[in-house]
Amino acid sequence: MTINQVKSLESLALQNIRHARTPEELELLRVKHLGRKGDLTAVLRSLGKLDPEVRRHVGQEANRAKEALEAALDEALGALKAAARLAGTPAADVTLPGRRLPRGRLHPLNRIMAEVCDIFLHLGFETVEGPEVELDWYNFEALNLPPDHPARDMQDTFYFNDKVLLRTHTSPMQIRTMEVRQPPVRIIAPGKVYRRDSDITHSPMFHQVEGLLVDKGVTFADLKGVLTAFVHQMFGPELGVRFRPSYFPFTEPSAEVDIECVMCGGRGCRVCKATGWLEVLGSGMVHPAVFEAVGYDPETYTGFAFGLGIERIAMLKYGVDDIRLFFDNDLRFLRQF
Ligand code: PHE
Repeated sequence: MTINQVKSLESLALQNIRHARTPEELELLRVKHLGRKGDLTAVLRSLGKLDPEVRRHVGQEANRAKEALEAALDEALGALKAAARLAGTPAADVTLPGRRLPRGRLHPLNRIMAEVCDIFLHLGFETVEGPEVELDWYNFEALNLPPDHPARDMQDTFYFNDKVLLRTHTSPMQIRTMEVRQPPVRIIAPGKVYRRDSDITHSPMFHQVEGLLVDKGVTFADLKGVLTAFVHQMFGPELGVRFRPSYFPFTEPSAEVDIECVMCGGRGCRVCKATGWLEVLGSGMVHPAVFEAVGYDPETYTGFAFGLGIERIAMLKYGVDDIRLFFDNDLRFLRQF
């Protein structure tokens, strides 16, 4: 046995290993070359018969060849296994429907708010917005609420100090608008309002939409026409509407608008307290004192105003009996809309 024979045996074995296509083929090669009866093993065993001088060189070469073959076998086996793993991964099924991303939606109050504003925009009203932290002048004084009026009570109003408060209604936007514009005025003012009140039908923060229309020759018939059109758009064209005399310091005459109870169809139930009617908004002809506060001539101009509560309308429309559900942010509730 010579060094050259060991070398050619090694290169033949390496070639076989390179061509092996399966782990089983590799195992056969391992046995063939390195196994108990393998050819390289035979070389190593036969070293004893050689001259000591030759034995040393051939022996070194045979051991190096053995290590090289072992390394080549391991590497080839690793490569085959990695390829098999890749091949075993199922290909993407492009016909499967995609995974849906969770989709957000509007909060029910924002939906009702948008619906209400949309109806009035189509009736020719323009949207204005103003501050929630308000001056006493806009919230009360200019709206003909005298200093001793019960609505100013600490019981109902969040005060910062004598003059600054959280607005208790959107009506201050009537004043802020007329202060900077001349008639004709036709605006709605959506927004948050605050009152010291909290139970199943009252929340310390809630939403209103204010409306104001001022021009020459505006009458109570215009008020009835516009608000009836709104109610029919919002709740359905067949629904009964009635205007009930009421009182607000900033309108005269004043009326509350009732709709036929949407829960019982007017027969009388718990929600309408057996009256068959539900109050949905406050309204009236703008009081001359309000016009005077903003410098409009009450002899020249007339107008009507109204205010409606978004939470109340949402509760009636969706049959929700506890206002706090709108503010708990419980997804089980919100996902129903
Ligand atoms: N601001 C009144 C309220 O909050 C509603 C209203 C607005 C009434 C405009 C008449 C005119 O109850």
